[in-house]
Amino acid sequence: MCGIIGYIGDKKASDILISGLSHLEYRGYDSAGIALCYNGTTNVYKAQGKLINLSEVLKTKQEICDVATKGIGHIRWATHGLPTTTNAHPHTCNCKNFTLVHNGIIENYQELKEELVNCGCIFQSQTDTEVAAHLIAHEYGKTKDLLSAMQSAVKKIKGAFAFCAIHNNEPDKIVVAKRNAPLIIGVGEGENFIASDIPAIIEYTKKAIYLSDYQVGVIKKDSIKIYDENNTLITNKIEHLPFEAMAISKMGYKHFMLKEIHEQGDVVRNVLSGKLISPEHQIQLNEFKLTSEKIKNISRIQIIACGTSLHAGMAGKYIIEKFANIPVDVEASSEYIYRDTIADKNTLVIGISQSGETADTITAIKQVKAQNSHIAIITNRADSTMARLADSLLPVNAGIEVSVAATKSYMAQLISLYLLAMYLSEQKNITKYETDIKNLKQELIELPNKIETLLTNTANIREIAKKYSSYKDFIFIARGINFPSALEGALKLKEISYINATGYGAGELKHGPIAMLDENMPVLAILNTGIVYDKVLSNCEEAKARQAKLIGVTDYLADKDKDLFNDLILIPSISDLISPALNIVVLQLLAYYIAEYLGKDVDQPRNLAKSVTVE
Ligand code: M6R
Repeated sequence: MCGIIGYIGDKKASDILISGLSHLEYRGYDSAGIALCYNGTTNVYKAQGKLINLSEVLKTKQEICDVATKGIGHIRWATHGLPTTTNAHPHTCNCKNFTLVHNGIIENYQELKEELVNCGCIFQSQTDTEVAAHLIAHEYGKTKDLLSAMQSAVKKIKGAFAFCAIHNNEPDKIVVAKRNAPLIIGVGEGENFIASDIPAIIEYTKKAIYLSDYQVGVIKKDSIKIYDENNTLITNKIEHLPFEAMAISKMGYKHFMLKEIHEQGDVVRNVLSGKLISPEHQIQLNEFKLTSEKIKNISRIQIIACGTSLHAGMAGKYIIEKFANIPVDVEASSEYIYRDTIADKNTLVIGISQSGETADTITAIKQVKAQNSHIAIITNRADSTMARLADSLLPVNAGIEVSVAATKSYMAQLISLYLLAMYLSEQKNITKYETDIKNLKQELIELPNKIETLLTNTANIREIAKKYSSYKDFIFIARGINFPSALEGALKLKEISYINATGYGAGELKHGPIAMLDENMPVLAILNTGIVYDKVLSNCEEAKARQAKLIGVTDYLADKDKDLFNDLILIPSISDLISPALNIVVLQLLAYYIAEYLGKDVDQPRNLAKSVTVE
């Protein structure tokens, strides 16, 4: 979603702003802009589309780019108004002295706009951000002080925001504020940075201050002052940023998505490290803060998440119910928040989020926190807003995921849920699953090698991708623990190739979707040796009888059944219980190669954002 960068120091601000924005590109955006300050004036440059368009504009403005050492920048993911140059940030007040970039949504922008129009403000764009720009400038008119103007303006604003603001009368500073949208201040020597996410500044500094909600900061090149909502000067801790600049390089792969798919063996090793020592040892989950007594009292579990994280949660339900013997409900956060939910002190709520910044999940977690439930957060960003809401923080440490399509973070979430399920079972002393759990541990230890074996033999998947890339629709079917794999495989395909793909429980096919089957509808079936194998095979027969093209993903198929399938993808032998972790690699690769063959923008698919910070 939108991204913010700011710089104040002695270096060329334009270079730092453009480089910072380029590291936020992965978040998804549709226009970009920067404001450069020099000698008491501010110059705003904007462009629709990719950052390269803005860079082209800047090539004709070298005289300013060469001298400006302060500036703010933004990439916009349209919420209010089309993705045009006019609607791109930065936005200014009418006299152009005040300039603002903003992430988030101003909910009361219409009523504020009416008041500002009555005061004589003239609006250029359809954005809610321009309302905030006029509002802060209007407050500045009263106080002639940017800090207090920001402080009084934010009190009038409803909604979510991260603001980065400058005024020509106060050339030595950038003023920032935030509520329900992330903002960090990168600490340098004789220079400071502002960003909505770490990758934007990691090549310049590893030290940062996290701004909290309702705080306002005044950033100069050699000082950072933070004020709380009572205007008291406070000291926020300087934290060490968790990433290396190298982690945001493609390392020779054509796309980040392909690189991230290939990292999954190591991701599994990372998640298991220190937690799964051997099949004979109990799972170590020190981050989980409930005592075994309290674990025994858990009467239900609610998993709340969105998109890919939701699919991980759905697989988690199978594993937790199987081993921990606790009923699990899984729900999309966006649905959870607008009904009366029932949770209490004996409910364990698990929020799952790659980014830790998904607005729907944050709102759901805040809502349920008020009901005294224990909140466990499974996230790839231990520095995120959601992580800070956790009673038990279970970081998955998959490393930064740049491609919008989640791959390695799904793997990490899945493995964390296997660990959590076994941990809960062991803490409850459920002995009847001891052997199953021991076998699962052994399989988890072997999993990274199996993933890597699969990843070294992708020629067949590439061939199949090419063969099916011209189809307009796709159906994915599976049953049991692989039903979420079918949903996730379909999501991956539609996200990056724009092919209409839907996942179904294979048993549901005959209750409606079968009407769509003919020779133009490929059906991908996931079937692993296990309890639902024969059932899925029968569902495949039903599809074949309707002339659907059948692709099978399986670790075993009897010779007699092979003719049923037009194409087969064989994975290393694996138990049904842990097969989602191998099947998903196949489905990620299939989606990737189809999108790549179609020439799509794999890492930044249209209309999508990496972290969805609006409800
Ligand atoms: O950061 P989160 O895991 O909370 O994000 C949730 C979804 O927005 C995300 O999984 C989305 O579905 C991805 N684009 C999937 O590839």
